[in-house]
Amino acid sequence: MAVNAGDAGTWTLGDRVVNRMGFGSMRITGNPDPQVAIGVLRRAIELGVNHIDTAAYYFEANFATELIRSALTPYPDDLVITTKVGFFRDDAGDWHEARSPENLREQVEDNLRRLGRDHLDVVNLRIIKRAGRDSIAESFGALADLRAEGLIRHLGISNVRVDHLDEAQAIAPVVCVQNNYAIDNRADDELLRVCGARGVAYVPFFAIAGSAREGGATSDHSEAVSAVAARHDLSPHQVRLAWTLHQGDHVLAIPGTSNQTHLEQNIAVAGVRFTDADLAELA
Ligand SMILES: NC(=O)c1ccc[n+]([C@@H]2O[C@H](COP(=O)([O-])OP(=O)(O)OC[C@H]3O[C@@H](n4cnc5c(N)ncnc54)[C@H](OP(=O)(O)O)[C@@H]3O)[C@@H](O)[C@H]2O)c1
Repeated sequence: MAVNAGDAGTWTLGDRVVNRMGFGSMRITGNPDPQVAIGVLRRAIELGVNHIDTAAYYFEANFATELIRSALTPYPDDLVITTKVGFFRDDAGDWHEARSPENLREQVEDNLRRLGRDHLDVVNLRIIKRAGRDSIAESFGALADLRAEGLIRHLGISNVRVDHLDEAQAIAPVVCVQNNYAIDNRADDELLRVCGARGVAYVPFFAIAGSAREGGATSDHSEAVSAVAARHDLSPHQVRLAWTLHQGDHVLAIPGTSNQTHLEQNIAVAGVRFTDADLAELA
């Protein structure tokens, strides 16, 4: 049976309906031949993906935003592109947090230019957490102003705690929280629950990578993950991804890959249904 990203159902980000199985574009920038990434992006759309995560600072051999533009324009009407601001990378590739109102406007305009759009569907304010001195009020307020200007349709926040969500929601509507979360990284269990209670999408990154983070897919699989994988004829990476989608209807997946076979395996996860016994074992 053909797999489709819609098999896991949909979620509404503000006024935009997306399939819960999406695509993260951080991993597509490394190949010097842009056609490889373009092929993966077009295949994702063919398989029903209509939610793509990106950032203007995702670049190696190519910029993710520019690959998305090359691959997907004219953009399908139902495509929602979520991007992130709060950082930039200099020409040497070094990362800098930059979230003054002026910085944020520049980053929004950079995203608009590279994606070839007149507005951004969803923009996440991506922060670094520093206990006691990491208020997001000024930065999120600046993005709310850009939203009021029509440059941004919806806002989200990334790498945050519950108190950041409280702070942001007092300023403007928040459609999503994008944080590091996986079957073996459960620090956000409470934030995930709070998001669900408030109708905010929770979007985990590193669901497959786990503790390997930027290094790629983890090979550290628990016995339970391996057992459930064998029972369902899935790979352990697919089980990790499927587990996230079972944590609530408001959880959206954005697995990243530069490989079409992995892409197809990830989209197939949209159709995976675990039993209560599977979930108890995985818990
Ligand atoms: N907000 C933030 O701060 C933040 C931080 C990091 C990432 N993100 C976003 O979240 C998305 C997801 O994170 P991610 O891409 O870093 O990690 P991920 O989706 O957890 O895992 C991606 C890694 O796993 C491999 N992989 C993917 N599918 C696989 C499969 N079916 N079988 C085996 N290996 C597989 C990929 O390698 P191959 O290319 O070889 O498949 C890649 O190395 C990113 O693409 C990005 O859009 C956001």
